[in-house]
Amino acid sequence: MGLGAGIHLEGVSKRYGAGDTAVDALKDVNMSVAPGEVVGLIGPSGSGKTTLLKCLGAVIEPTRGRMTLGGEVIYDNGWQIDDRRVLRRDRIGFIFQAPYLIPFLDAIDNVALLPMLAGRPNAEARARARELLEALDVAHRAQAFPSELSGGEQQRVSIARALANRPPVILADEPTAPLDSERGLAVMRILHQLAGQYQTAIIVVTHDEKIIPTFKRIYAIRDGRTVEEAGEGRGLSA
Ligand SMILES: Nc1ncnc2c1ncn2[C@@H]1O[C@H](COP(=O)(O)OP(=O)(O)O)[C@@H](O)[C@H]1O
Ligand SMILES: [Mg+2]
Repeated sequence: MGLGAGIHLEGVSKRYGAGDTAVDALKDVNMSVAPGEVVGLIGPSGSGKTTLLKCLGAVIEPTRGRMTLGGEVIYDNGWQIDDRRVLRRDRIGFIFQAPYLIPFLDAIDNVALLPMLAGRPNAEARARARELLEALDVAHRAQAFPSELSGGEQQRVSIARALANRPPVILADEPTAPLDSERGLAVMRILHQLAGQYQTAIIVVTHDEKIIPTFKRIYAIRDGRTVEEAGEGRGLSA
């Protein structure tokens, strides 16, 4: 992991539309997340949180600025990468509020699919999937289909899937919203643990009062501008 790995945004702006109806959703956003670090991103509705995750995830194009992911400059007043689809598939783990598992694949194949698509041999992809399901304490459900899993189990499978290609970056949008507070904290415990284990840089967008104290650092965003706040940093040592 080289110097500068992790996530860096410098002067990132995003304007939707043009002329009288233009919306400046991000204005000169600066943010850094080190490998192995989990930071929170909080802010009122409409403050630019989803826009920021979409820019970082190469889903939409910023208007200007510079973005580095895993030690590589991906955007510098224009995309610096050939294939944004491959970047999203192989280098970024997305965790959404809903698990979005593929209904006709069992749990292990839901996780193994991405490494297979990235060109890993099937046996290796399945071995990696099993290892992740074990780390997330859901390996006993490996052969179950999504409809046979509880909500918490589905969310853990979707986290395993986000980690399957060992992405240097994970972007999570309200990952604990559908879970009760105990399961939400369990998910955060797993994210903190795996960030350390795989040196992943993780951003978690959240409104969840229960998990906010688990962040050592929090970025607050308001009107498209980020402000770093000290997290309570209580951590998860229980
Ligand atoms: N596709 C779009 N076209 C125009 N304006 C948008 C679009 N998406 C978001 N916005 C506007 O950009 C601002 C930030 O939105 P968003 O990033 O979704 O905020 P948050 O996720 O914090 O609620 C809001 O004013 C929103 O209305
Ligand atoms: Mg949003």
